[in-house]
Amino acid sequence: MITRSVSFLLAALWLAAAPAGAQTTAGASAAIPHLQKQGTATQLIVDGKPFLMLAGELRNSSGSSLDYLKPIWPKLVAMHINTVLTAVYWELLEPKEGQFDFTLVDGAIQAARENNLRLVFLWFGSWKNGVSSYPPAWVKTDQNRFPRVQDKNGKGLETLSTLGTASRDADSRAFAALMRHIKQVDIRHTVIMMQVENEVGVLGDSRDRCEAANKAFEGPVPKELLDYVASHKDILHPDLSKAWEAAGSKTSGTWEQIFGKAAYTDEIFMAWNYASYVGHVAAAGKAEYPLPMYVNTWCSMPSPGRGPGTYPSGGPEPRVGNIWKVGAPAIDIRGPDLYSPNQPDWIKWYRANDTDNPLFIPETDSTRGAYHLFYALGQHDAMGYAPFAIDELLYPVNPAANPGTKPADLPLAKSYATAGQLAPVILKYQGKDKMAGVVVSAEEPSQKVTLGDYVLTVSYPRSGRRPAPPPATPGAAAPATPAPAPAPAGPPPVGVIVISAGPGEYFIAGSGQVNVTFAPNTPGDPIAGVLSIEEGSFVNGRWAPGRRLNGDETSQGQFARIGGNGIPNGSIQRVKLYRYR
Ligand code: DGJ
Repeated sequence: MITRSVSFLLAALWLAAAPAGAQTTAGASAAIPHLQKQGTATQLIVDGKPFLMLAGELRNSSGSSLDYLKPIWPKLVAMHINTVLTAVYWELLEPKEGQFDFTLVDGAIQAARENNLRLVFLWFGSWKNGVSSYPPAWVKTDQNRFPRVQDKNGKGLETLSTLGTASRDADSRAFAALMRHIKQVDIRHTVIMMQVENEVGVLGDSRDRCEAANKAFEGPVPKELLDYVASHKDILHPDLSKAWEAAGSKTSGTWEQIFGKAAYTDEIFMAWNYASYVGHVAAAGKAEYPLPMYVNTWCSMPSPGRGPGTYPSGGPEPRVGNIWKVGAPAIDIRGPDLYSPNQPDWIKWYRANDTDNPLFIPETDSTRGAYHLFYALGQHDAMGYAPFAIDELLYPVNPAANPGTKPADLPLAKSYATAGQLAPVILKYQGKDKMAGVVVSAEEPSQKVTLGDYVLTVSYPRSGRRPAPPPATPGAAAPATPAPAPAPAGPPPVGVIVISAGPGEYFIAGSGQVNVTFAPNTPGDPIAGVLSIEEGSFVNGRWAPGRRLNGDETSQGQFARIGGNGIPNGSIQRVKLYRYR
């Protein structure tokens, strides 16, 4: 029988020695994956170079069986995914207190490496979607040691209380053990980032009302938080400064004395307590191995009748982003989970309401992701994009839903193939105001992009309108695979990225068929003409021209056709413009 320590040693030796194909041909740099600013963007640096995560998140239970995952890895590669988000479960990692089983972690790292994929591990520790279904049995069955949230009716919820110091410390020990282990076995940096917990917050009430929580709520607001509020007025969320100022801009007092008597105060209180707990867990992990760490947010735009508790109260929502920033300094990113059809509106809202927060989209709808991707990359410098339940898209995992579908045929795979080619260019221009992204849709069939010396108009080839989709339900994390809507009339939404590569020179690509016309944006000759359009690809980051497009393929040099008229969807085009009068 192989003992636990011998099997650990074997796994460690294998993981340290195994070839990692393309990802290590340049040699793994000693630098741990980390975040770095470039202009206004934040990039993830892996092995010394910026890395764009074209990612996918597996379904919640997929990571619990290496056999289940075995046939899936190569299909993810065929989908042009370069990073897989998969869970590590506290209940399986530490089934007995203090005894750790890293079999699933090692198996995932090994399989990812064999397939030249990177990993982001999701730590399903104390909380997942607000509740505590993933702590091990020794935690769940000891309510005295590991207290629960109580709601306003005195009912205990299956949710660990943030006020439970023993819970926080037990979770931190397990997470630290995980990070220590990853550091030991993953010298080639297959694991590039960590998610700490999952969509935390109290559901069903605006705050925890257990005895310890009530006592803390009646106690003073920590000085650290008050100092931050008083000294960062310029970057406070408007709702936070309004609440503080309306209550008299006090510098000491209880939560209600400082922020007023309102559900929002309960949310602020919970945010502070979740941030303190999750930040403690993250810091314990970073002390072992400081990978970048993020939390994901169950997003809810403020709307009447949908207060904190209808969405997880105290989660890293934009309205309490400041609280998270000061309460959890070990957390680098608060990432929005975005499932609504109008994703551009949600991204704009998130960015405007939680400033000074790099954009990583840890969860989104896998179908709509095929076009929203280009908006997130082009318009907002997203460092990564991760549609959820990615394994469910794949035949034969779900033959009923996708009979005969080949991974590479999926719309998301096609978009990832395009974005993967563009990645070196995207990374070069992130944070420099040289890129734009739009989604052309029934609601906005023609969109203008001002970039460099020109205004580009991106439109459907013909202005066919289609019925508007049902309105988004703010706050609800929609099912990952919603029932298919009735077949819409007219073209589906198309995502387009435009990159300004020099004066009058653009790379343009997208997820479907659009036409792009050009007009000058600066003084001088008033008409823009097309000098040349090349179709091509990027090979190892260098432009490799294919056909020279003119004639019908450009409507006699009048516009760029991104798809249609003999031009395949996914075409990448380099357009050079000139001006005349
Ligand atoms: C958001 C959660 O973070 C995911 O783990 C998953 O439960 C999805 N919701 C399902 O829509």
